[in-house]
Amino acid sequence: MNRWIAFTLTLGLGLAACASQPPLTDPVARGKRDFRTKGCMRCHRLGDEGSEYGPGPNLTMVGFRKSSAWISRWLANPHDWNPKTIMPNLHLTPQQISDLADFLSIQKGQAWKVYPWRTKDALEMPSKDRGNLIFNMAGCVGCHGPNGTGGKPDNNVAGGMIPTLTLVSDGYTKAELVQKITNGVTPLPADPSKPKPMIVMPRWGDMLTQDEIGAVADYLISLHPKSQSSDGF
Ligand code: HEC
Ligand code: HEC
Repeated sequence: MNRWIAFTLTLGLGLAACASQPPLTDPVARGKRDFRTKGCMRCHRLGDEGSEYGPGPNLTMVGFRKSSAWISRWLANPHDWNPKTIMPNLHLTPQQISDLADFLSIQKGQAWKVYPWRTKDALEMPSKDRGNLIFNMAGCVGCHGPNGTGGKPDNNVAGGMIPTLTLVSDGYTKAELVQKITNGVTPLPADPSKPKPMIVMPRWGDMLTQDEIGAVADYLISLHPKSQSSDGF
C-alpha cells in the first residue's frame, strides 16, 4: 500500500514539475522545440538528428542559403511557393512560423562537429563523389534539385525557375564554374517594377574552400561529360 502512495506522490510531483516549467521566452529556443515536435525531422536532417535519407533537403546550412523572409513564406504554405512540392502544409501558427524562421535562419553549419565532406572517409573519395556529397549536404540540392535537375521556382526571374545544372559543362569550363560558385549570383529581376527575386545564389566562397568548390565543379561536369555531348550532336 505504502508503495502505491509513494508512487502516486512521485507521479503527482513529476507532473507538477512539468506543468510549472517556465514558457520559453527565446524565439530560437521555441523554434528549436517546434522543429522537433512538429514532424520536421521525419523528412529533414539537421546536424546529427532527423531523417538521414530525406526526402527533404538537409537543413544544417539552410540559414546560409535561404533568408528568414523566404523561410517564413515557405512555411506559411509550401504549395503557395511551389505547387509541385511534396512538403505538406503543416498549418503552423504565425508565432510558430516566426520562431522556426528565427531558428532555421541561423543554421550555418554549426550543428556539425565536422562538415561531412571533411571527414577522413570523404577526403579519400574521388573528387566528383566528394562533390556530390557537398552538393547534397551543403544544400545545392535545395535550389537546383536532385542531381541538378531543377524544378524549383524563384519569383520575378525570366522563366520563373532556378536554373538546372545538368548541362553546365557545355557552357562553362571548370575554372569558370569554380568562379561562379565562389562568388554567387544575384538574379536580375524579370520585371524591375516588381519585388526582387527572393532566392539568390549564395557566395559559396564564404563557406567552402577552393578545393571543395573544385570538387563540386567536377561533380557537375560529371553529370554531362563533354566527350558525350560532342559525340551525340
Ligand atoms: C513529408 C516530408 C516533409 C516534412 C514533414 C517537412 N518537410 Fe520541409 N521539405 C520537404 C521537401 C521534400 C522539401 C524540398 C521541397 C521543394 O523544394 O519542393 C522541403 C523543403 C524545406 C525547406 C527549404 C529547404 C532548402 O534547402 O531550401 C525548409 C526550410 C523546410 N522544408 C522546413 C521544414 C520545417 C521547419 C518542417 C516542419 C515544420 C518541415 N520542413 C517538414 C519535405 C518535408
Ligand atoms: C539559395 C538557392 C541556391 C543554392 C543553395 C545554390 N544555388 Fe546555384 N544558383 C542559384 C540561382 C538563383 C542561380 C541563377 C543566378 C542567375 O540568375 O544567373 C544559380 C546559378 C548557378 C550556376 C550557374 C548556372 C548557369 O546556367 O549559369 C551554377 C553553376 C550553380 N548555381 C551552382 C551551384 C552549386 C554548386 C551550389 C552548391 C554549392 C549552388 N549552386 C547552390 C541558386 C542557388
